[in-house]
Amino acid sequence: MAILQVEHLRQVYQSKDGETVALEDIHFSMEKGEFFSVVGPSGCGKSTLLSIISGMLPATDGRVLVAGEEIKAPSSHIGYMLQQDNLLEWRTIRQNVLLGLEIRRQLTPEMRDRADHLLETYGLAAFANRHPSQLSGGMRQRAALIRTLAINPDILLLDEAFSALDYQTRLEVTEDVYRIIKREQVTALMVTHDIPESICMGDKVLILSERPAVIRTVLPIRFNMDKRTPITCRSQPEFAGYFNHIWKELGMNEALETAGTVAGEDPLS
Ligand SMILES: Nc1ncnc2c1ncn2[C@@H]1O[C@H](COP(=O)(O)OP(=O)(O)O)[C@@H](O)[C@H]1O
Ligand SMILES: [Mg+2]
Repeated sequence: MAILQVEHLRQVYQSKDGETVALEDIHFSMEKGEFFSVVGPSGCGKSTLLSIISGMLPATDGRVLVAGEEIKAPSSHIGYMLQQDNLLEWRTIRQNVLLGLEIRRQLTPEMRDRADHLLETYGLAAFANRHPSQLSGGMRQRAALIRTLAINPDILLLDEAFSALDYQTRLEVTEDVYRIIKREQVTALMVTHDIPESICMGDKVLILSERPAVIRTVLPIRFNMDKRTPITCRSQPEFAGYFNHIWKELGMNEALETAGTVAGEDPLS
């Protein structure tokens, strides 16, 4: 059975200026351990989609099931990582990692052990009593991920989670996050505006249309190699083909023509 079922989601926002239809019939499912990337034009409804899946935003129509159970409110089945790492400076790293469990009143000895084990496994035990500002950007993201994984979620949602990082750190963090997610066998759904990142991380890339977002294409990503990691994908012969496919589907050629520029080697930089 699919771990995540997203069924015919439709979202309409009401405001004093009228209605905004953000999502139109979004329908897909994920198997346990899969990693899907989501790309789409700015403002098309990507964050709306994740907010609904997280249980924080009730959908106008449609429903979300995790392990067969309908999600109607935020739950420990779902972990959510945003752009800001949201670590609290007055708490130590360990206290930050335990925060999600505290809020959910799940701070049992077993869950505390699990959190300590994650800190240990992923090289943060030595920093457990430090405060966030004493860590590098990459380490902070790792701590934020471990805090999210400490609640033992079935699904991990990432909304442009790395976009505040500088390029070098971002490459390191994606490598780091990918390794941890695969090792913990977490099912992950990641929104990104970075096409290479969507390819490097994803088993599939969901390409969304302009608002109201519909799924234009579900693009399976396969590399002919034994053990892929984000960095090694980038030098594979298939990579450019995937890039061009997504680029075209997003209508970026037209966008560039309108802007009077010419498509270059790395149009996003
Ligand atoms: N709370 C809200 N009320 C009204 N409109 C909203 C609200 N949140 C988002 N929108 C609108 O819905 C559309 C999709 O927003 P969003 O999901 O944030 O897009 P994305 O993450 O793809 O950039 C945008 O036009 C945005 O202005
Ligand atoms: Mg967004």
